[in-house]
Amino acid sequence: MTESGNATKASWDPLRVDLGERSYDIRFYNNATDALVADIKALCPERAFVVTNETIWSAQGERFGAAMQAAGVDFTTAMVGDGEKYKTLDSASALYDRLLEERFSRRATVIAFGGGVIGDLAGFVAATFLRGVRFIQVPTTVVAMVDSSIGGKTGVDHRLGKNLIGAFYQPALVAVDLAYLKTLDDHNRHGGFAEIIKYGVIYDAALFDYLEKNVTRALKLESEPLLHVTRRSCEIKAAVVGQDEFEGGLRAILNFGHTFAHAIESVGEYKERQFHGQAVAIGMVAAGELACRLGMFSAGEQARLVKLIETAGLPTRIPEGMKAEQIVEGMKSDKKVVSGRQRFVLPTRLGEVVLRDDVETPAVLKLLRDLGAT
Ligand SMILES: NC(=O)c1ccc[n+]([C@@H]2O[C@H](COP(=O)([O-])OP(=O)(O)OC[C@H]3O[C@@H](n4cnc5c(N)ncnc54)[C@H](O)[C@@H]3O)[C@@H](O)[C@H]2O)c1
Ligand SMILES: [Zn+2]
Repeated sequence: MTESGNATKASWDPLRVDLGERSYDIRFYNNATDALVADIKALCPERAFVVTNETIWSAQGERFGAAMQAAGVDFTTAMVGDGEKYKTLDSASALYDRLLEERFSRRATVIAFGGGVIGDLAGFVAATFLRGVRFIQVPTTVVAMVDSSIGGKTGVDHRLGKNLIGAFYQPALVAVDLAYLKTLDDHNRHGGFAEIIKYGVIYDAALFDYLEKNVTRALKLESEPLLHVTRRSCEIKAAVVGQDEFEGGLRAILNFGHTFAHAIESVGEYKERQFHGQAVAIGMVAAGELACRLGMFSAGEQARLVKLIETAGLPTRIPEGMKAEQIVEGMKSDKKVVSGRQRFVLPTRLGEVVLRDDVETPAVLKLLRDLGAT
């Protein structure tokens, strides 16, 4: 996995996600709505059902809708409320109502035009409407481009927890126009880069090196570095999913930083607002520091990780006022706890992680306090 060396120019060619008969392309565009729509049209034998929200549609939908019309794609748009709180069975149900009332058939194509919330919800609807209709992802956030739109996890939240109702259902195409990020707010743009940094740490030292040199330019949405890091992230997610489509093993490495992150998100202000990427950033620092203390990761590499996260404008310390005990409690309720033991994804070097389930709680509490918890 070193072909992403610093000098190579990133390619705009399609990237194949290899999953046997469920294989599909991730295609990249640079402000090229007509080309994107032409690729979508080829996968719409009949009518298309575009799921989005008012925020995204007013920022990016007008051109997309006009291009769909000009290309002669017969489509309807369905608006969902904006935010995680709309990723529910109620929203799915409202979408089924629309699909049935408007007599969509099994030859329908559902298109998610939005971030991870829209993608997860629309994908679940596509997986279940008439036992499954074709599904296309048009991601419009960094998280959706490098993470949620690839790999086939779809679903909705339940009042007892996030993502508890869902299905594995692969899209037929992921169409990534990097220009959509121009209207995304800073908070979500930076947050998404936490996931990109994650791919470097878990899988690809060359991506990590590249980010150390170019993350600021990529964050400014300069097309060359932005393409390079999004494409490489997609490749890594696709490679991991390709080896473990249904989360039997390897896919767990994608949770690097996330055990801590989910716990941090379950307390304090992080609960109220969407701070996932920011929590992942702190979680990666915590996991790296824990690995150092266990003698499996070098202080020099941990310092590089902290520096890169800072350069990307992300936090590296636990927000003031969070209690270490509360965070540990939050970790215990993580659905990925295996037979009662907390499992951590820890780096052994930049580009490689292992799973450890032998870390004692007092060591975790001390770590959290050293990182700013009380
Ligand atoms: N399926 C998976 O494998 C997977 C992986 C990671 C995350 N997720 C899920 O993804 C969701 C988070 O996704 P997200 O981070 O994309 O958040 P999001 O979908 O809530 O989008 C963030 C915000 O940006 C707005 N927005 C989106 N695109 C925009 C654009 N181009 N211009 C202006 N505003 C825009 C949205 O309306 C929203 O307010 C969570 O529900 C999470 O569970 C799923
Ligand atoms: Zn994440």
